[in-house]
Amino acid sequence: MGNTRKILVISGPNLNLLGTREPEIYGSKTLGDMQDLMMGYAREKAIDLVFFQSNVEGDIINYIHENRNADGIVINPAAFTHTSIALRDALTTTGIPAVEVHLSNIHAREEFRRISLTAPVCIGQISGFGIHSYLLGLEALDQHLSKGNS
Ligand code: DQA
Repeated sequence: MGNTRKILVISGPNLNLLGTREPEIYGSKTLGDMQDLMMGYAREKAIDLVFFQSNVEGDIINYIHENRNADGIVINPAAFTHTSIALRDALTTTGIPAVEVHLSNIHAREEFRRISLTAPVCIGQISGFGIHSYLLGLEALDQHLSKGNS
């Protein structure tokens, strides 16, 4: 267990309702389905995944602070992507390598969704693959950390 990687998987506001929330945009899979998908990969790679969802900006920031011993973060900041300098600052303050993920392709939607305040301080962004965006984000992060690029 000594060198097990601890990865936080953080989901922002309204994602607790995934599956019933605007399924034509976000699909019918739930946050639980996303967790099952990721756990399959994590078990194979012996990664310690910790899931967190909140609708409250400050709670997400506090969670990142409290878990600043983590090796990496997969984060879907949801609407905070487009608004939260504070969340962006939490990522740079803790310096934890992060990958930003989105279920929908934020670049193919309303103009205001094309701007991400958080992506520039992440390793990269994955957008448009439903719950698979989370898994792709985890794989990319794992690869990045294994290369010693963190
Ligand atoms: C989202 C895209 C955001 O623009 C939106 O506010 C969300 C979900 C996505 O996963 O596609 O809540 O982050």
